[in-house]
Amino acid sequence: MTHKTYRVIQWCTGVVGKTALRHFIENPVFELVGVLVTNPDKDGKDAGDLAGLAATGVTATSDVEKIMALDADCVLFAPIVTDVDMICRLLRSGKNVVSPAGPFVPNKYFPDESKKIEAACLEAGVSFHGCGIHPGFSGDILPLTLSRLMNRIDRIQIIEFIDKDKNPMVYTEMMGFGADPQELLAKPRRAPDTWRHFYQSLAMVAEGLGQEIEKVTSHFEVASATQDIPYTLGEGRSGGGVIKTGTVGGQHYEWTAWVDGVPLISYHFYWTMGEHVEPRWDIDSRYQVVIEGDPGMEVRLMSPPDADGKRPFLGLPWTGLVGATALPAVCDAQPGLITHLDLGVVQPRGLVRAK
Ligand SMILES: NC(=O)c1ccc[n+]([C@@H]2O[C@H](COP(=O)([O-])OP(=O)(O)OC[C@H]3O[C@@H](n4cnc5c(N)ncnc54)[C@H](OP(=O)(O)O)[C@@H]3O)[C@@H](O)[C@H]2O)c1
Repeated sequence: MTHKTYRVIQWCTGVVGKTALRHFIENPVFELVGVLVTNPDKDGKDAGDLAGLAATGVTATSDVEKIMALDADCVLFAPIVTDVDMICRLLRSGKNVVSPAGPFVPNKYFPDESKKIEAACLEAGVSFHGCGIHPGFSGDILPLTLSRLMNRIDRIQIIEFIDKDKNPMVYTEMMGFGADPQELLAKPRRAPDTWRHFYQSLAMVAEGLGQEIEKVTSHFEVASATQDIPYTLGEGRSGGGVIKTGTVGGQHYEWTAWVDGVPLISYHFYWTMGEHVEPRWDIDSRYQVVIEGDPGMEVRLMSPPDADGKRPFLGLPWTGLVGATALPAVCDAQPGLITHLDLGVVQPRGLVRAK
């Protein structure tokens, strides 16, 4: 079977970007033509070196102009903080762009971003698509797809469980672990309007079901560490500390979209620092979609457990892969800001191949 190939650029090589980079090197559907890095230690390194693979002959650069000048079909844009103006420059240079930071759907909370991107797409005849694991997959296109197996839907709940002890992350302290519970309850570290970012996914599901969201309500609760819990910052990162007994060892954020006076779609985020917390929430890392109605449904999206019996949380690698596998369809789509609803069923290319 012959495959059309796509010349691709990987923009930044953090956890998400590195997964996508590895995919682009290994999947014959892609020809890697450029890698943008910000870290001076990575500048000048071979892309294969950055991805933990054999040399590719493609050298990473921190020179934005060199990347802009490349002849490429598409870019997986994954810096730590998104930059809509930079996305528009890439689009205007004739490259299709996929970003894990959105925008995911043109919406009332971020109208300017979407308008700017749409304008750049139409001007250059290219496309933009926002997708990641959540927002961008497990809370929108996944439940919407599963809805096709329902006769009647009363409520949809999407739950993210992450055991941060098994899956250490650099943001542990920044997220409020180890803080005084009352202080964190009074001032959660997720900004009060973070739900607006996820509103795009809530709206995509509501719209897909022919409904309109009336309001979104929030709830936040914390769990306390029942013993001192040492933590690290994750692979390859030095530092860490100890979550002291009685301080925040778990957090649960909930955002619920209401339709016709009743809760229709809820997102829950349970983040815990292992099992020594009270209340003791589930720490089996996964996404879980629960659809109440006729018939009831529950779907779990998770990796197999490691040898220690605990599950790695694959949200960040999945974010790189859901974007990478969408790129060919985005390149082939009509120009504009393309949502999951526009893309329909994506047919990933080049995944079935020899090891
Ligand atoms: N939708 C979703 O489900 C979802 C899930 C996870 C993440 N995300 C988004 O995906 C993006 C990447 O996440 P990640 O987990 O890969 O992040 P990360 O591991 O922290 O890495 C991001 C990379 O950004 C570059 N960088 C560092 N400082 C920067 C700065 N000041 N300005 C611009 N770039 C900088 C670095 O690239 P180099 O090392 O190459 O220099 C860094 O490795 C973020 O925007 C995040 O919000 C979305």
